[in-house]
Amino acid sequence: MGAIDTSSDWLAARQPQPPRTPGLRIGGVVLASPVVQAALSGYSDSPMRRLARRFGAAYTLGEVMLDQFLVTVRMRKRTRHFLEIADEEHPVGGQLMGAEPVQFAAGARRLAAAGFDVIDINFGCPVKKVVGRCRGGFHLSQPEVALEILRRTRDALPERIPLTVKLRRGIDDSAASRERVFAILEGAWAAGVAAVTVHGRTVKQRYEGRSCWEFLAEVKRQAGERTVLGSGDLFSAADCLRMLEQTGVDGVSVARGAIGNPWIFQQTRALLAGQTLPDPPRVFEQREVIREHYALTRECYGSERCGPLMRKFGIKYAALHPCYAEVRQAFTRVRGYEDWEQLFDRWYAEDLPGQAPPEEVHRSQGSGQSSLASSRPST
Ligand SMILES: Cc1cc2nc3c(=O)[nH]c(=O)nc-3n(C[C@H](O)[C@H](O)[C@H](O)COP(=O)(O)O)c2cc1C
Repeated sequence: MGAIDTSSDWLAARQPQPPRTPGLRIGGVVLASPVVQAALSGYSDSPMRRLARRFGAAYTLGEVMLDQFLVTVRMRKRTRHFLEIADEEHPVGGQLMGAEPVQFAAGARRLAAAGFDVIDINFGCPVKKVVGRCRGGFHLSQPEVALEILRRTRDALPERIPLTVKLRRGIDDSAASRERVFAILEGAWAAGVAAVTVHGRTVKQRYEGRSCWEFLAEVKRQAGERTVLGSGDLFSAADCLRMLEQTGVDGVSVARGAIGNPWIFQQTRALLAGQTLPDPPRVFEQREVIREHYALTRECYGSERCGPLMRKFGIKYAALHPCYAEVRQAFTRVRGYEDWEQLFDRWYAEDLPGQAPPEEVHRSQGSGQSSLASSRPST
């Protein structure tokens, strides 16, 4: 395969293609479309997942949870949202992270009992504190331990629940790291893993630089018929289509590109169906969806926590507004519900055309994971 085209006018230059209606299979879970919403610590809670599903994401994943946290978590007010799943969400995946292979089984069973349809193991988290505690991306440096985790977790789960794994391209760019990742991939299939999601950055890269899609193409070639999802640099519907076409992966896992932009799923599905790219949502439609997101968040967390929790989403939704900079600034100041209504009266009272999120918006979202992961009750 030649070099992978990352130019932004790829869509315009692309020859018309017949509609693609490929599904995606994760073990016994069959999805109607190849576009899914990634696990996003601090973001992919039940309200975000519900909206993603309504906009056409075939499957979503919750925020990563620690094995130790899952063993002790109670359905208390402060923590119950981690295990909350609405009926409309299924199929939904729960993600697990830890250090010791023996501790994964109990966490996986707890996720399954909570109603998650697929259990995903995180071998990708690059946060210093996580890697320093031999969790997440650290496992890419020790294939034997990584594979023991997968085998033990597979054994602990009922057969009907697929086990999947999320990993990065390696710890770093060294040949040794690359070899270890391929050893993990080979062992993972042998251990009964139903699908892998590969993020084309290294752990060392964290969220900087580009995601290496050539690596995704290589993994898919080696995986043959097995299910591979790609991750990294999916910020528009055109990006999603380009990844599918250029790497051959079976599915795309939209991450930062979906925060404050659930329309990305609808737009990608339109392109896959051979339709033209829909216009960005107009301001009234944006307001309606932000209000719905607010209502779902209030339902999940209660009215007191809802306002501050929604602020980070509001800031991301602002990227679709034609007055992005001012609206973003306004969202940083909102607190209670009255502030939100005032902001809507000021900025969302005229039905102007929306805009595609500017490129710099995505690049500024990389640091979120560390602060949120470390504020987790169990970390
Ligand atoms: C704020 C934030 C939180 C994330 N949380 C998780 C997580 O909990 N589990 C996981 O596997 N990946 C997590 N990721 C990684 C994403 O799922 C994805 O692999 C990565 O952002 C690359 O995709 P992108 O360049 O399209 O954003 C997170 C990324 C960000 C920016």
